[in-house]
Amino acid sequence: MCGIVGYIGYRDASSVLIKGLKRLEYRGYDSAGIALLDTKLEIYKTKGKVARLAEIIPSGLTHKVGMGHTRWATHGEPTDINAHPHLSPSGNLAVIHNGIIENYGSLKEALIRQGHTFHSDTDTEVLIHLVEEIKVNERTTLEEAVRLALNQVIGAYALVILSRDEPSKLIAARKGSPLVVGYGEPGEFFLASDATPIIEYTRKVTYLNDGEMVFIKDGTLTIKTIENVEKSPYMQELEINLDAIEKGGYEHFMLKEIYEQPKSVLDSFRGRVFVDQGVFRMRSLQEYEEKLRTVNRVVMLGCGTSWHAALVGEYLFEELARIHTEVEYASEFRYRNPVINKNDLYIAISQSGETADTLAAVMLAKKHDATVFGICNVVGSSIPRLSDAGAYTHAGPEIGVASTKAFTSQITVLTLLALALADLRGAISKEQLIVYLKELERIPDKVEQTLKLNDEIVEIAKKFKDARNFLYLGRGVNFPVALEGALKLKEISYIHAEGYPAAEVKHGPIALIDEVMPVVFIAPKSGHYGKIISNIQEVKARRGIVIAIVSNGDEQIREMADHLIEIPDTEEIFSPLLTTIPLQLLSYHIAVMRGCNVDQPRNLAKSVTVE
Ligand code: AGP
Repeated sequence: MCGIVGYIGYRDASSVLIKGLKRLEYRGYDSAGIALLDTKLEIYKTKGKVARLAEIIPSGLTHKVGMGHTRWATHGEPTDINAHPHLSPSGNLAVIHNGIIENYGSLKEALIRQGHTFHSDTDTEVLIHLVEEIKVNERTTLEEAVRLALNQVIGAYALVILSRDEPSKLIAARKGSPLVVGYGEPGEFFLASDATPIIEYTRKVTYLNDGEMVFIKDGTLTIKTIENVEKSPYMQELEINLDAIEKGGYEHFMLKEIYEQPKSVLDSFRGRVFVDQGVFRMRSLQEYEEKLRTVNRVVMLGCGTSWHAALVGEYLFEELARIHTEVEYASEFRYRNPVINKNDLYIAISQSGETADTLAAVMLAKKHDATVFGICNVVGSSIPRLSDAGAYTHAGPEIGVASTKAFTSQITVLTLLALALADLRGAISKEQLIVYLKELERIPDKVEQTLKLNDEIVEIAKKFKDARNFLYLGRGVNFPVALEGALKLKEISYIHAEGYPAAEVKHGPIALIDEVMPVVFIAPKSGHYGKIISNIQEVKARRGIVIAIVSNGDEQIREMADHLIEIPDTEEIFSPLLTTIPLQLLSYHIAVMRGCNVDQPRNLAKSVTVE
């Protein structure tokens, strides 16, 4: 949550910062601000989005140093005052911060006793007061004051600090919240929560590790730990293109990302499998072959959409590889003293690789010496860096807050892993494996065909855009798809929606069925087909409205459903990769018709880096 950008160099800092903040806005968008530095420290900040901030910044500015912040409120409402940057009591120092200072209450009390007055309700303001207090009392450098202050802080942070007295200096630090340094022309440096504000200027970056600080001074950069140990920066070359982070003619990022799925699904398995031989090429499989062959239990961890992908993974791991698999909400796992057996395999699933709860769950598993695999999208993010091994999903940057292509890519990688494990453990014949892999190769085309249903889905969206409630029902591997369909609708259109295993409906939710609430059945041809037909009949018998997603040519459900969405036929294990697509489109169109901001839904942020 919250996006931060820093700049020092030769360009107009305000434009670099505003452009960067627009790219990071998916991380939070309730207020925004920048600090610009030359002989004076100028602050512009406001409640609202970055576009509003841009309107209040005067034109013709020539500052070459600055920092900017787009906020997702944790401590204190989204107001002009609570927006970052925050100033020290003298007004000499300014800070922007992403994360939470957990002990800000006790630090604040101590500072108030020392005579400090605070203007905002934020934890961040406490931090910059503390830095100045230490700097003045200890008569030390700004670098040392920041370091000493961070040693007193409990919590998570990525922060940047500027000083009016030292205009050629920029200080930054990270612990628990991401921060990337970009190297531009000689003497030019960028800082950002992720690489998207940087790639326009340079591809050379360093991802900071937890507990590291950066000092940029007079054109040179030094990295030290908060224990004061100097580190040599590990520089890497970024591979993303500018196109990948722009809308490319689509009205919204979400729509672009939905339409990217034929490619993102392909990219998730491309180069990882020799289809004709039924052989996998994934580094983690080689390194951990023995572990994967013998492991008795797999525990999957994730939040939100990634948790839904894990539920799909559970079905696949049990069905194909016959491994006992459990799925945990990362946020619950870490707080309930779970039994962690070091012989088990933990798989953490996360688009961003930065979700605080998932990260903490990974740390907990590792503390108990368990092996952790990460399935993440953002390269270089915290979870893959902390995991023992894993696989990137290679879906490309996902900017819409509602996850779409990341979900189908997570499922693709989980399917690949389930098949590889099944092969390794002898749970599947080579012939069957090759049949599956050949079908996997056809999936990107089938996703493409499914996207062609868009116009039909627009018509359905028109009919139901004013519904107050939706029910999504599926069975087996499509039960998590029902959950995901409901989540997509809730988060972008603000319509209440629930997902259920179709057979559970008669244990309570059937009471909700009436003549107005749409019930979406995910009912492709599968082992559960006969059963789901009975469930549809139960809903129809109560005059429910049925929208059914079915395999092409399904005449039986056509007879019963009010609206039919026919998708290409496939093996049951791959069906979530197709059934998901109409649900994403349905939510998207309903949200657009209701006038909602689909890319930046209210109260949400893309990357949930707070607990
Ligand atoms: C999905 O549309 C969400 N906005 C959200 O549930 C998300 O999946 C969740 O916060 C987990 O994020 P992660 O995959 O980056 O860990």
